[in-house]
Amino acid sequence: GEAIAIPNHPFSFDGIFGTYDRASAQRGFQVYKEVCANCHAMRLLSYRNLRALGLSEEQVAAIASQVEVRDGPNDEGQMFDRPGRPSDRFRSPFPNPQAARAANNGAYPPDLSVIAKARNGGADYLYALLTGYADPPPGMTLGDGMNYNRYFPGHQIAMAAPLNPDQVEFADGTPGTVENMARDVTTFLQWAAEPELEERRAMGIKIILFLTILGGLVYAVKRRIWADVH
Ligand code: HEM
Repeated sequence: GEAIAIPNHPFSFDGIFGTYDRASAQRGFQVYKEVCANCHAMRLLSYRNLRALGLSEEQVAAIASQVEVRDGPNDEGQMFDRPGRPSDRFRSPFPNPQAARAANNGAYPPDLSVIAKARNGGADYLYALLTGYADPPPGMTLGDGMNYNRYFPGHQIAMAAPLNPDQVEFADGTPGTVENMARDVTTFLQWAAEPELEERRAMGIKIILFLTILGGLVYAVKRRIWADVH
């Protein structure tokens, strides 16, 4: 099909000095938990990973304990449900892909753990997708249960617009606009896919500083050694 230009959206983590806006990423986790997690798993994340976003041990324990986790077998050979722990993986909404498809008109909601790296366009694509719902252009008929999206390849997507104004109420007073929720959940998903980004960049900057200083020293030494040669 035709190539779709994905607009560039400014994010806190852009550029070599970019870092994750922790408040934005925390709000983004709230969006994931309250909206996306109804259909999308994030199997590569554990609740304790949220500590890296600035959540306290108590907050993480409280979030984990809100979900029921199937565990076992116990001493009697029985499976049982227990409250989640920080070491548990994020709970998946469906027990298997068949159940996920059955609940979504045959379409499969992909795991979002590394989606920010798995799609062309990365974070810009995610933001564009989440804000890209519109009426189909005149003359275009959508398949049953399909939705028009400006940025989804082919423009017909089985996921209905997941974000609607004020769907999420942020405790810090950030207005629940679609754009704010999309930016925050995209920041959260980018962090999930690339948690080591800040360390990697900090290391790169240190290496460049080191090489710059070393270069200066080598030059000074060279001048000294050759000073008497005329
Ligand atoms: C697909 C994100 C909420 C159902 C997707 C894709 C992404 C995504 C990135 C992949 C698009 C692609 O293949 O390029 C999100 C986010 C959500 C959210 C960030 C929350 C803000 C939901 C909800 C449902 C859902 C609540 C179910 C009611 C689906 C389905 C697909 C999908 C069925 C597959 C679509 C297709 O292949 O046609 N979503 N989603 N999503 N999502 Fe969501």
